[in-house]
Amino acid sequence: MSEVRRHFEANGQGHVFAFYESLSDDEKASLDEQAAAIDLDEIAELTVTLIQSNNHESAKISDGIEPANYIPLPNKEGGDPARWIEAQAKGEAALRAGRVAAFTVAGGQGTRLGYDGPKGTFGVTPVLKKSLFQVFAEKILASSQIFGRPIPWYIMTSRINHEASEAFFEANDYFGLSSDRVHFFSQGLMPAVDAEGKILLADKGEIALSPDGHGGSLRALVRSGAVRQMEADGIDIISYFQVDNPLIRCIDPSFIGFHLETGSELSSKMVPKAYAGEKVGVFCEEGDKALVLEYSDLPDKFARATDENGELLYRAGSIAIHLFNRDFVNRLGSGAEESARLPFHLAHKKVSYLDTTGNVQSPAEPNAYKFEMFVFDALPFAANPVIIETAREDDFSPVKNANGVDSAVTSSEDQLRQFARWAIAAGIEVETDDTGLPKVAFEVSPLFGDTTGRFASAWDALEDKPELTDGLVLV
Ligand code: UD1
Repeated sequence: MSEVRRHFEANGQGHVFAFYESLSDDEKASLDEQAAAIDLDEIAELTVTLIQSNNHESAKISDGIEPANYIPLPNKEGGDPARWIEAQAKGEAALRAGRVAAFTVAGGQGTRLGYDGPKGTFGVTPVLKKSLFQVFAEKILASSQIFGRPIPWYIMTSRINHEASEAFFEANDYFGLSSDRVHFFSQGLMPAVDAEGKILLADKGEIALSPDGHGGSLRALVRSGAVRQMEADGIDIISYFQVDNPLIRCIDPSFIGFHLETGSELSSKMVPKAYAGEKVGVFCEEGDKALVLEYSDLPDKFARATDENGELLYRAGSIAIHLFNRDFVNRLGSGAEESARLPFHLAHKKVSYLDTTGNVQSPAEPNAYKFEMFVFDALPFAANPVIIETAREDDFSPVKNANGVDSAVTSSEDQLRQFARWAIAAGIEVETDDTGLPKVAFEVSPLFGDTTGRFASAWDALEDKPELTDGLVLV
C-alpha cells in the first residue's frame, strides 16, 4: 500500500482508494498525486470548525464594526486635489522604476455567465468583441510604453482552464506583450466533502476537487515561485484585479502613490454602492483593522442604514481591486505565521459524486461542502491599509451574469459611455442619450484609451479624422 493511501486510511478517508485496484497504473499515479496534495489535518479541522459547528457563513457582525474611512476623489466632499496630484507623481515614479507587476485572478469557473471556456477569453468590447485578456494585455502594454518599463503580468488560472488560457495567449501572440513577461500559474485545489467531512470522489481515479478561492492566490503566488521572481526583478508592488472587469485601470499611478505614501501593505479601491442591495462586499473597520464584509454577510438593516445626508452608511463597495506589497504576500502566502492565515469559507453546493457501488450520482439538492478563501480576508492582517475612492465609470463594470445586471450588455454599454466621454474630451461631437450612451457604437483601443488624455493626443495627431459611425474602431 502506498504511503499516501495508508495516511488516508489512518485518517478515515480510505474510501478515496476504494476503486484503486481497478485503475490503470497512470490513473493510480494520478490519484496518488491528487491525494498527496490534500492536507487531511486541514480538512479535519475545517469539518469541525465550519461544517459541524453550524457556523454556516452567518453574519459575524460585532458591535465594534464601523463603516470604513476612505480617501475621497478630488472632486468629492473632503477631496484634496493637491494630494491626488502628489500621489499620481509618486505612483508614476514607482512605475518608471519598474516596481510594479499586474496580477489577474482568472481561476474561477464562470458558471453564472454560462460560458464554456476560460472567462478571460470571453469577448467583451462593443465592436471588435476583444476578449477580457486582450483588453488587459493592451492596457498593460500601454502603461509599459508610457512609463518606459515593461510591466510583468502574472495570471492565476486553475486546473480547469490553465492550458486553454495559456494556449489562447500563444495563439494570439501574447497580444503584443513579450511572452517572457506573462507568467501563468495554477491555483490550489480543495476537495469537496460531505457533512461528515468525507472526501468525495468525482470518479474512480478522481477526487472531487475545486479551486481554493481567489484568496488561494496568496499561497499560489508563493508556491509557484512568482514572489521569488518578483523579488529578483525588483518588483515590490502587485496590482491585483479580477478577470471579469474590462473597465479596470490595470495600472493606476494615483492608487500606487497613495499606497506608497501611507506605507500600506494592502490598499483597496472603493466605489459608493449604487443601491443598498448591490452585490458587492463592503469595507468596514474594527479598531485599527480594515475588513470587507461580503454582501451575503451584511444584514439588511446595515445594508439599508443611512447617514445624516441620506447616503448609505455602509457604502464603501469593494470592487476587488487591490495593491499588495510583495513581502506581505510572502508573509501570508507562505503560511509561516500561524496567526496570519486566511480563513476558509464554506459553500454548500450540488456536487456529482461516485457512490459506494461506483456509480456517479448527480444530486438535486446541495450535498457537499466546498472550502474557499477570499483575498480580502487579508485586510485585517495588513499594516496601514488604505482605501481610496474611484470613479465607477472608469474602473468597474464587471461581466458576471448571462443577462441583466453585470452582464455582457451592461458592461459593453459602460465601455461605450467611456469611449464617448473620451471622444467628447478630445473635441469630437458625439450624440448620446441621457445616460451618456452614444447613439453609434464605436470602439477605442485600450492602447490609446485611458483617463489621462492619451486618446485626445492620438486623435489630434490623426490626419484624416473619420466620421463617427457604427462599427468604427478608433486608433
Ligand atoms: C466578488 C467579491 C465581492 C466584490 C465583487 C466585485 C467574492 C467572494 N466576492 O464577488 O466582494 O464586491 O467580486 O466584482 O469574491 N476566482 C479565482 N479562483 C477562485 C474563485 C474565484 O480566480 O477559486 C476569481 C474569478 O475568476 C473572478 C473573481 O475571482 O475573477 C471573482 O470571483 P466571484 O466568485 O465571481 O466573486 P463575486 O461573487 O462576483
